[in-house]
Amino acid sequence: MTQISAQALDPPPAPLFHTHTTLVPPEHEPQTYIPSPSPSGMPTPSLKRPITVRAAQPTTSDAEAIISIGRPVYAATFGPTCSEADLRDYLDSTYTSPLVLAELTDPNKQFFIAVQDLLEASNSLDTVVGFVQLTKGTTEPCLGEYDDIIELQRFYIALDHHGAGVAARLMEHTLSVAKQQQYRHIWLGVYEHNHRARRFYQKYGFKSVGEHDFWVGSDRQTDIVCVRELVQE
Ligand SMILES: CC(C)(COP(=O)(O)OP(=O)(O)OC[C@H]1O[C@@H](n2cnc3c(N)ncnc32)[C@H](O)[C@@H]1OP(=O)(O)O)[C@@H](O)C(=O)NCCC(=O)NCCS
Repeated sequence: MTQISAQALDPPPAPLFHTHTTLVPPEHEPQTYIPSPSPSGMPTPSLKRPITVRAAQPTTSDAEAIISIGRPVYAATFGPTCSEADLRDYLDSTYTSPLVLAELTDPNKQFFIAVQDLLEASNSLDTVVGFVQLTKGTTEPCLGEYDDIIELQRFYIALDHHGAGVAARLMEHTLSVAKQQQYRHIWLGVYEHNHRARRFYQKYGFKSVGEHDFWVGSDRQTDIVCVRELVQE
């Protein structure tokens, strides 16, 4: 996944969650996924509890929810690939409440969060178990031939929910939102040694089309750039 923003194309300002065309699709409606097979027919683990995916709001509580997933999942996934100092710098320059709140009001970024109701004893306790970030107006040289494209910039699932079907539901929702917004392609960058994520994206039809460097402090790492076509029905 791209940890450092890809080059922006300087798109014109747009309102929050502005759609790509004049269509105003219902993608902001919260979508509840009940424990059942994936609608795409993809063989995914059954959910133990229903998941609701909703657009994150520019509120402190949603910013904190994103941070509560982003910090530990990033640290567990990428911590072993960089120095402690670089990891701390990255987390402190990415996952603070003011920074995430600013991103939640950025018209080129859309965040969706997956919420699970844990139903602890007699209490209903909504817990955020993942989030995804879509970013408009970014590209890479190897994406030149792909038009109407949006970036899947971050995709993080709580560590204790990996392999539990949450990622599948969040991906289904993400692809559906991008389609509703009339994009024809979705791209991402994934760290070359992040084999679990690469396999996950491969399952969802993303194909490698190139690579790019990104720097974590003084360490140059390689991302594989992948694209998936979004077939409009
Ligand atoms: C990447 C992520 C979103 C995927 O969610 P998930 O619930 O783990 O995904 P799934 O279990 O459905 O799929 C993972 C696949 O990788 C496979 N896998 C697991 N470890 C693997 C490894 N070391 N090498 C190769 N494949 C691996 C799993 O078997 C599974 O494939 P299968 O369904 O064909 O058996 C989640 O693991 C995550 O949040 N990771 C940390 C953050 C991250 O890396 N985000 C992406 C940044 S680009």
